Amino acid sequence: MGTTLRCRPGHPGSRILSAGTYRPRAEVGNETVAALIDSSDEWIRRRSGIASRRHAGPDEDLVTMAAAAASKALAGAGVGPHDVSAVLVATMTHRGRSTTVAPLVAETLGAAGAAAMDLGAACAGFPYALATADALIRGGAAGTVVLIGAERMTDVVDPRDRGTAFLFGDGAGAVVVGPAETCGIGPVVWGADGAKSEMLRYDETGTLRMQGPEVFRWATSIVPEVARRALDEAGLTASDLAAFVPHQANLRITTAAARALGLGPHVRVATDVVTNGNTGAASIPQALAALPGVKGPALLVGFGAGLAYAAQVVDL
Ligand code: COA
Repeated sequence: MGTTLRCRPGHPGSRILSAGTYRPRAEVGNETVAALIDSSDEWIRRRSGIASRRHAGPDEDLVTMAAAAASKALAGAGVGPHDVSAVLVATMTHRGRSTTVAPLVAETLGAAGAAAMDLGAACAGFPYALATADALIRGGAAGTVVLIGAERMTDVVDPRDRGTAFLFGDGAGAVVVGPAETCGIGPVVWGADGAKSEMLRYDETGTLRMQGPEVFRWATSIVPEVARRALDEAGLTASDLAAFVPHQANLRITTAAARALGLGPHVRVATDVVTNGNTGAASIPQALAALPGVKGPALLVGFGAGLAYAAQVVDL
């Protein structure tokens, strides 16, 4: 005779309660990175929209930056560390002595005992982890989740590589996700194309190598496509949006996607890349934290190495 297991009840929905960011102290202008790659401030601005980025110092490690961003998000949500039931860290640059970052972040926050794990989906890591947090909460496996994107891209970028040195920056962004009576995180549209993984990969020394023009072409086609599908799944159109927050890879990719989606002037388009560069999995939560007054539906789209992509509409 079989035994019937008891299931834990979940919640009808989940929502983002707050966002926080940590930007490393050192602001690095284009002239500094251009000097090593025979480039110029003018070229970098024209091809990427980037004016400056932050580089982390030795004391600004992944755990420190992630915990600082998460503390701000927790304070913004009015949630104490003991009420956190899971800590998720999305990162592609963890090189530390511990095998994962999340347990150390939980410990630093005072949330020891919470479930803690890292998630790897490169620059699509944040929307992947957000879909995971939403599923954990709706399925009853977690209550309040702290979700952090944290990167030290300078640890994996060759400062003499003309194709990547000027694009990337360091930092962390975090959100608190909690149970809700209604749906505050729309259905995720996600996927990956491993056959194209060579376009953005680590070489044998662990340095990030990128086929820039190919990645650019892929990004400008996949971002509007998954964005439209995420809007459809959420039962919305582009005119319903209050904000568009794509992964901050290159301002030209953001602008091309906003144009392809036909976004009106009322939609706030995240441009964090201009002063932050591409901070990998941290870029979307950092950009969200930079839009404090925005209320209503925001379309998030992540894309990057893998090649992985994910999009969902969230209610801010
Ligand atoms: N400074 C100055 N000139 C440069 C340069 C640099 N850093 N890098 C390349 N060039 C030159 C090239 O030599 C080439 O010169 P040529 O026309 O005389 O042959 C010209 O600029 C164009 O090179 P290309 O590589 O085609 O540049 P691009 O217009 O594709 O811009 C990127 C380069 C990296 C900005 C762009 O490809 C890009 O943004 N790709 C997507 C990157 C991305 O988002 N990655 C992260 C995804 S998570």
